[in-house]
Amino acid sequence: MAKEKQIFFCQECGFESAKWMGQCPGCKSWNTFCEEKVVVGAKKQTLMREAIAPTSILQVEKTDEVRFTTGFAELDRVLGGGIVRDSLVLVGGDPGIGKSTILLQMCRNITEAGKTVLYVSGEESMSQIKMRAERIGTFSKDMLLLCVNELAYVEDYLKKARPDVMIIDSIQTMITDDISSAPGSISQIKEVTARLMRIAKQMGIAIFIVGHVTKEGTVAGPRNLEHMVDTVLYFEGDRNAGFRVLRAVKNRFGSTNEIGVFEMTETGLAEVNNPSQVMLDGRPEASSGSVVVCSMEGTRPLLIEIQALVSQTNFNLPRRTAVGLDYNRVNLLLAVLEKRAGLILSGCDAYVNIAGGIRLDDPSSDLGIIYAIVSSYRNRPVDEHLVAFGEVGLSGEVRAVSAAEQRVYEAQKMGFTTCVIPKSNKDKMKKIEGMKVIGVASVTEALEIIV
Ligand code: TYD
Ligand code: MG
Repeated sequence: MAKEKQIFFCQECGFESAKWMGQCPGCKSWNTFCEEKVVVGAKKQTLMREAIAPTSILQVEKTDEVRFTTGFAELDRVLGGGIVRDSLVLVGGDPGIGKSTILLQMCRNITEAGKTVLYVSGEESMSQIKMRAERIGTFSKDMLLLCVNELAYVEDYLKKARPDVMIIDSIQTMITDDISSAPGSISQIKEVTARLMRIAKQMGIAIFIVGHVTKEGTVAGPRNLEHMVDTVLYFEGDRNAGFRVLRAVKNRFGSTNEIGVFEMTETGLAEVNNPSQVMLDGRPEASSGSVVVCSMEGTRPLLIEIQALVSQTNFNLPRRTAVGLDYNRVNLLLAVLEKRAGLILSGCDAYVNIAGGIRLDDPSSDLGIIYAIVSSYRNRPVDEHLVAFGEVGLSGEVRAVSAAEQRVYEAQKMGFTTCVIPKSNKDKMKKIEGMKVIGVASVTEALEIIV
């Protein structure tokens, strides 16, 4: 018989516990447990056991992936070449970053191409959506809106008509009657997502679900859903800065780490075709502590400015901050400089930043970070037309990176004239006209170039 039980779930990572806890043993975050009612022993799915037998892989027929375009080249690339027909895509990001806007624009492009779209919003009223739509442009009649919170209504509609694409904005506002906990709680969003996955696969609809990433309140983070969906896209960027980066962190139909760059304008999001240009806009001239690196974002090289400020500390313990970079990585590089290049940095505060709100995880930016720190420490600007990249190891060696040639070409395209790169990369590279390529094997060698 079905029995209701109370279980506590961590709203960050989904850890389950019979009693409330202050700190989650799973993800170590504090105050994230919420009580939810779960029905145990409810109707079990009856399996037709004899009907299910394994199939030899040779007999499995391959169905061709049906893909169609979103109307945005940037978004298509992040998705791995357009929308796959029966897929479930999660679009995550901070509130207000532009998730609803980009999806609405995508819907407009898709309906323009003759497909039907159902936009389910549990967050905004029809007139609010209409107001946003008016800023974006004109829509066709195949763009259908449904403002409900219950998934059952959506399922009722799908029994009658089948759109090509469906948007659920947002997963945190959708509920199903089968589960009695509050909208946005872990059990609700998991159940709703599982049902949407079934709909996508059985009916052949591409479904996009919006998920807000937030730490406060009872709104469950979409990170719990990552393993349940086909593709996970994160929308990031500084809300105050104009541009946004869309990043694929999981993709069953394409490569990850691919990024798309957009700019928020008066009429919605616009694609940025030359992101390096945007990233370097407003770069200070002849200023110490500013260096350009070239990072690979998926298949695309991207030039990014790294800034460092090193000053005498007024405290016993020097302050170190890293914005847009891994804090531990910056500390490691400071230690390498101190030990291998003899710079006395232990008495200095060091702040290292990436301009423009983007996040860099590529270790090839190490050499650039080192240049920025040393340039600020010595208060001497680095040549404005220089780009540096290379991974730095603990013994101060500069290690090879991938796609070196492509990075050098990107630097050349943007008008840079000198590249400092790992020696092992340089040795394999052919000569590039109009570009001075310097190969370095160690940090000490690299520092000789910028004195
Ligand atoms: P929105 O898509 O509502 O964010 P999310 O769905 O991720 O919460 O984006 C909201 C922000 O975008 C809001 O601050 C206003 C801004 N915006 C523009 O600057 N231009 C536009 O054309 C639109 C539609 C929104
Ligand atoms: Mg929204």
